[in-house]
Amino acid sequence: MTSSDTSPHAARYPAGALAFPHRDLLGIGQLERHEILFLLDEAEQWVALNRQRTKHSDALAGLTIINAFFENSTRTLLSFEIAGKRLGADVVNMHAAQSSVKKGETLIDTAITLNAMRADAIVIRHGSSGATGLIADKVDCPVLNAGDGQHEHPTQALLDALALRHALRERGETADDFTGLVIVICGDILHSRVARSNLLCLQALGATVRLCAPPALMPSGIEGMGAEVFHDFDAALDGADVAMMLRLQTERMNGQFIPSAREYHYLYGLTKARLEKAKSDTLVMHPGPMNRGVEIDSEVADMIDRSIITQQVEMGVAIRMACLDVLTRRARGVEGWGEVA
Ligand code: NCD
Repeated sequence: MTSSDTSPHAARYPAGALAFPHRDLLGIGQLERHEILFLLDEAEQWVALNRQRTKHSDALAGLTIINAFFENSTRTLLSFEIAGKRLGADVVNMHAAQSSVKKGETLIDTAITLNAMRADAIVIRHGSSGATGLIADKVDCPVLNAGDGQHEHPTQALLDALALRHALRERGETADDFTGLVIVICGDILHSRVARSNLLCLQALGATVRLCAPPALMPSGIEGMGAEVFHDFDAALDGADVAMMLRLQTERMNGQFIPSAREYHYLYGLTKARLEKAKSDTLVMHPGPMNRGVEIDSEVADMIDRSIITQQVEMGVAIRMACLDVLTRRARGVEGWGEVA
């Protein structure tokens, strides 16, 4: 049903499993541009399904998906749960607060336990960078990274790209890739896995990415990743097509990184006045959860013609459906999705 051979974009990527030859989705850093486009294109059918009254497919019927979340989450966990259920899988959520992790079990023992239960896909969120990769080494099924420390959050970057593609399309622009677009990512770049995954994803799709943060929240050497670095938000916004705002990741801060939330808002908060100085159609994005009045003002977050924050949430379910579908194709014996040499 979802083979790339039947996709309207078949020429954009190799046929069958060569379109996406990975067992796991651990980061955007592991993906080629055509593999990103493949996942975005695959998600379109699920956007359409999710807009119908009956939102159900049997593609993953009989499969078990475990969502193992060792860190707090609202939208990512719910989104993965809804995605798995809409594909007909049995979905089980494991919250670390109620798990044996609290009794001192190691991550590797937890992985071995999940593996013994014969999960067909494991979705993991963990506070340590690299934890999802560690688990992937210990299990026999696909592993999807739902955010690992400050490292990567690949499905967030993919859903952001899909939301942007849809927003541009609604404006009548060809939105197949983002060549020519200037995208500002502003906030706590240092601690943000969303910033890292988005930088990689948006650049792979051709966009120019500007990173904006106070010096203390900007990783050193980030210019080496091809980003333009700004400490003045107004200068970064000048000529920008998109402003992607990030929350201060206080849970990852050791010590004082900003003088006060008030000063941070003054210098780096997206206010209506500040947005008015940018282009007349600059789009506003935020991965959530938002801290209204800190990195973004309510009147901007809720601007219907500019903010695509709720569309991001909508696209999250479709992207996760696409990832779960594609990664389980080999195990399901989908034609053309056998072993990749
Ligand atoms: C992000 C995360 O967890 O990294 N949230 C999300 O997944 N939507 C961003 C954040 O927590 O600020």
